[in-house]
Amino acid sequence: MRILIADDDPLQREVLQGFLEKQGYAVLSAGDGAQALRLFRREPVQLVLLDQRMPGLSGDQVLAEMKALNPLARAIMITAHGAVDRAVRVMQLGADDFLEKPVDLLGLLEKIQSLEQTLAVAEDVAELRQETLPDAAPPEVIGDSPAMREVFSLVRRMAETPWSVLIRGETGTGKELIARLLHRLSPRHAAPFVEVNCAAIPEALFESELFGHERGAFTGAARQRRGRFELAQGGTLFLDEVGELPLPLQAKLLRALQEKRINRVGSEQDVAIDARVVTATHRDLRRLVEAGAFREDLFFRLNVFEIEVPPLRQRREDIPALVNAFVERYARRPTRLAPETLDALIKYAWPGNVRELEHVIQRSLTLARSNILRPLDLPAELRQLDVEVGTGPLQERLDAVECELLRAALEQAGGVQTRAAEALGISERVLRYKLAKHGLKGGTGGAP
Ligand SMILES: Nc1ncnc2c1ncn2[C@@H]1O[C@H](COP(=O)(O)OP(=O)(O)OP(=O)(O)O)[C@@H](O)[C@H]1O
Ligand SMILES: [Mg+2]
Repeated sequence: MRILIADDDPLQREVLQGFLEKQGYAVLSAGDGAQALRLFRREPVQLVLLDQRMPGLSGDQVLAEMKALNPLARAIMITAHGAVDRAVRVMQLGADDFLEKPVDLLGLLEKIQSLEQTLAVAEDVAELRQETLPDAAPPEVIGDSPAMREVFSLVRRMAETPWSVLIRGETGTGKELIARLLHRLSPRHAAPFVEVNCAAIPEALFESELFGHERGAFTGAARQRRGRFELAQGGTLFLDEVGELPLPLQAKLLRALQEKRINRVGSEQDVAIDARVVTATHRDLRRLVEAGAFREDLFFRLNVFEIEVPPLRQRREDIPALVNAFVERYARRPTRLAPETLDALIKYAWPGNVRELEHVIQRSLTLARSNILRPLDLPAELRQLDVEVGTGPLQERLDAVECELLRAALEQAGGVQTRAAEALGISERVLRYKLAKHGLKGGTGGAP
């Protein structure tokens, strides 16, 4: 376990660090909140010991940021003696435990060991769950974060009703998956789930797609065809990207929903429809309504209930389980993740949300050099060096970056100097010189 100590008192830092290192822990230390956050971003850290009172960023602020960055990291707050009310607040902020000053080292060790135990138990449970899952399980919607539990609870309650549901969320958050879940949990689950991507169907064909057509209704209509509304009879009609629907089609959709009847294109006779309508969009429909690009009456009809699927960066707790599921789905041989890899995955911002995560895992597994997925197997945007302006002499910081690059190159080259030198575009002699300068262990000379 790697522990980060953040305390502005150098003596306290030294005492804690010395003690914990003697117990066999890897320890990093920071003299203020900003430095602590920098280290936390860069290094995989499982536990943070935070002094609550520091100049600059307070322990509370640092804790809140760390939890946003990696909710799985554990934290113990160190508070002033007798400040029990503050300690309570600290726990509410997400600390796992607190200690009063002066720190009782054996008490600290006990708390750390019990946290380690809970981490190990959590891993066991995750493994067990994977093992007992039946092979033919339906495509699962993964998510144990408070935000996703809230979504599932909404879905469960809405599933029983006949009302329309609008699902909102950024691209790749799982809106379609939620729509399918809503159908599966509804009394209509035995009838079809029919999807229409409003953005993908040409405007001219939309009406016939949705409502069907009679033979000869227009050029190319060689036979009668039922539309998606009819195909979804008794079931659920999922209108994806509904925000892209042009205004004239919005009017037609609205009429169908109001009258619960449709006319096939080219037919006088109307057909009764019974489909529950679920829609999804990554656009802000209210804004579109204000701008006159979306009909307000249609909006109210589609939006009887609303589900907001939160972006992945607001539920980072879900990342490990999603990663496990995707590794299992795409790995062609048993593959594990190095702890640093999972750490990088948890801290990344995921603008493309779960879909981006899925693609990253798929791609990294294909390119991985061994059956352990290392940070170097991840795409470049996930392993960018943490270059912040910060403070300090330029040369020192350039050296730090150089050292980091050398280490990475050697790791990627499997410790073979010839290959590392080649990758860096320098001679082996220069590489050896630089390794010695940074006190790095050199790996081996030639090819394996
Ligand atoms: N909670 C989840 N558990 C498992 N897989 C998920 C989850 N959320 C999303 N996915 C996967 O991520 C991918 C994208 O999900 P989906 O298509 O439902 O997103 P979307 O919100 O409809 O995206 P878009 O806005 O781009 O249409 C799919 O492959 C889906 O299986
Ligand atoms: Mg979608």
